[in-house]
Amino acid sequence: MNIGIDKIGFYAPHYYVDMIKLAEARGIDPDKFTIGIGQDEMALAPVTQDAVTLAANAALQVIDEEDREKIDLVLFGTESGIDHSKSAAVYLHHLLGLNPYARAVELKQACYSATAGIQMAKGHIALNPESKVLVIGADIARYGLATPGESTQGAGAVAMVISKDPKLLALENESTYFTNDIMDFWRPLYSDIAYVDGKFSNEQYIHFFNTVWEKYKEQTGRSLEDFSALCFHVPYTKMGLKALRTILDEATESGSERLKANYETSIQYNRKVGNIYTGSLYLSLLSLLEKNDSLEGGERIGLYSYGSGAVGEFFTGILQPNYQDHLYVHQHEELFHARKEVSIEEYEEIFEETLSADGSSTEFDRTNDPAPVYLSGVEDHKRIYVNRIK
Ligand code: HMG
Repeated sequence: MNIGIDKIGFYAPHYYVDMIKLAEARGIDPDKFTIGIGQDEMALAPVTQDAVTLAANAALQVIDEEDREKIDLVLFGTESGIDHSKSAAVYLHHLLGLNPYARAVELKQACYSATAGIQMAKGHIALNPESKVLVIGADIARYGLATPGESTQGAGAVAMVISKDPKLLALENESTYFTNDIMDFWRPLYSDIAYVDGKFSNEQYIHFFNTVWEKYKEQTGRSLEDFSALCFHVPYTKMGLKALRTILDEATESGSERLKANYETSIQYNRKVGNIYTGSLYLSLLSLLEKNDSLEGGERIGLYSYGSGAVGEFFTGILQPNYQDHLYVHQHEELFHARKEVSIEEYEEIFEETLSADGSSTEFDRTNDPAPVYLSGVEDHKRIYVNRIK
């Protein structure tokens, strides 16, 4: 039985920052951000968007009545959780109006957890072939104003329906994974910004990639020639390229050109959104699927997932015939088109506006957020969500 990604929805908040203007405001050569880091724009979440609303806005784009009935497992990957106890998956389950006879859980391992969700979903469908699973990667990446990590922030969500006979990508069984306890990036419970050892995180990302790629080749006997494209977790677009470059000497000249060209296609959306942590690899896959004009059903895509702390995994999928007919290209073009650029002053103001730490009641100005689902306020220590289209 083929099991894999049947649908992919994506949402980014409606504000963005131009990276050239950010560099100028910080007294940095803009080429460092656009070439050295490889980012053009950075999505910015207003206080009315959190991991739950971003996820709901991504999922609403793709799920239909049949999905609502058949989804009996919601796996919500995030490192921007809103509660230590109640999972974001339960809020999402309600906002989407899913079948109540479902399991709903939040998963955490930095940027890796949506991949864990996908692998668990595969097992669930192997045992329950008529079921569908909703897997989410939703996050807001925050390092702080004028920090080295600032140019690698972002916000957004990817929602995937995993099922048998998937319309987009059938996942293969072989995959290799690796865990090692390291401190490259973390966010203690008391902090709303990440702590990071930037250079070390870059090295470890590549080290984990090389480790799982070597093991994968050993396990399967496959080589780069078996792949049409490789997609990477994209904390910033230069990072995946650095990892790809470490293995390109294993490819033929034409193979190397193909992988480099497809890498460029796979980062088009990420260049405009920035890091969305758990969803970044899948945003890159979406960019590849929606922006390429040569990949056909039957071709193999490799996926490298990395979550600091750290866990890495290399796994693969086969593109399904006519996958192009099951994408939401037009909606994503609209989404990017409708975004509003904010000045650096506005960005700093929006960045600083956070929920009060003591949980006191608040009501937000909803006119500033056009998203179908938004956070309207906090009451009695409870977040109040509104779904405009329900
Ligand atoms: P930095 O110190 O600001 O930048 O930190 P840099 O000095 O290393 O420069 C960056 C690149 O720009 C370099 O290129 C420079 O040469 C180049 P490289 O040598 O690396 O190829 N550069 C220029 N290029 C053109 N024109 C110029 C120019 N000037 C310099 N004028 C860093 C950069 C990424 C470390 C920082 O932004 C950071 O700490 N970011 C957050 C951490 C991160 O993203 N790590 C990635 C791996 S870990 C990961 O992916 C997991 C994560 O997603 C979290 C999770 O799992 O939840 C982060």
